[in-house]
Amino acid sequence: MNEKKELNIILMGPPAAGKGTQSERIVGKYHVPHISTGDMFRAAIAAKTPLGVKASEYINAGKLVPDEVTIGLVEERLSQDDCKKGFLLDGFPRTIPQAEALDALLAKMGRRITHVILLEADDKVLTSRIVARRVCPKCGASYNLETKKPKVEGVCDNCGSTLIQRKDDTAEAFKVRLDSYAKQTYPIAEHYRKQGVLSRIDALQDIGSVFSDIEKALEA
Ligand code: AP5
Repeated sequence: MNEKKELNIILMGPPAAGKGTQSERIVGKYHVPHISTGDMFRAAIAAKTPLGVKASEYINAGKLVPDEVTIGLVEERLSQDDCKKGFLLDGFPRTIPQAEALDALLAKMGRRITHVILLEADDKVLTSRIVARRVCPKCGASYNLETKKPKVEGVCDNCGSTLIQRKDDTAEAFKVRLDSYAKQTYPIAEHYRKQGVLSRIDALQDIGSVFSDIEKALEA
């Protein structure tokens, strides 16, 4: 596949903007591997690996995991064969040093980011989404008590496990996450705007309309 057809995508936006929700649809349509640093850290925490133990201290408090840990993790993942024809990064990069490390890594491979999708939403709506979110600790499926209810209350449709609320979805940790997004992550949008690959999308629309705007951005 030539470089023009490669989809090397970054999906960014504040916590609860809908990155996980839209990732499912992007992967379903464009068949790129989904690389979510949040999911990778949660899997390491569940498996109680040394990485998980270290990451949990930061994540449960709503803070970012240090760059050196996160960058190494993504570099290793992107070097795997299934990423050769494209990928969807969800939740990475989250700081300017992460964005610069990613650009440098891709340049070494003769590749570049082709699309950055920025989901935009205001803090009030994000907070109300987070309060209503429930997730499956086993298969990772995500639900919402208002907009995406499971068929049986409190039970995962896919695997039957009991749904939980994420530890970093408390009001206190969520405030820290919103703050770190504004200060450390949002500036990345400008970094990619200058590269001509940024599309801003209104994440306050319903899930289908957000996806339809993403399709337009990816196919433009
Ligand atoms: P991560 O897992 O990436 O969390 P996040 O960015 O805070 O995002 P969320 O998973 O909370 O939300 P989302 O945007 O995926 O929204 P969702 O689709 O679920 O990271 C977690 C932590 O890991 C970080 O805080 C950090 O500590 C660490 N970490 C991860 N990456 C790192 C990195 N690169 N560097 C350092 N540390 C890192 O939607 C939310 C809810 O809204 C759901 O209930 C959903 O059903 C609903 N919803 C979605 N879209 C809509 C819509 N359009 N209308 C109505 N409801 C909607």
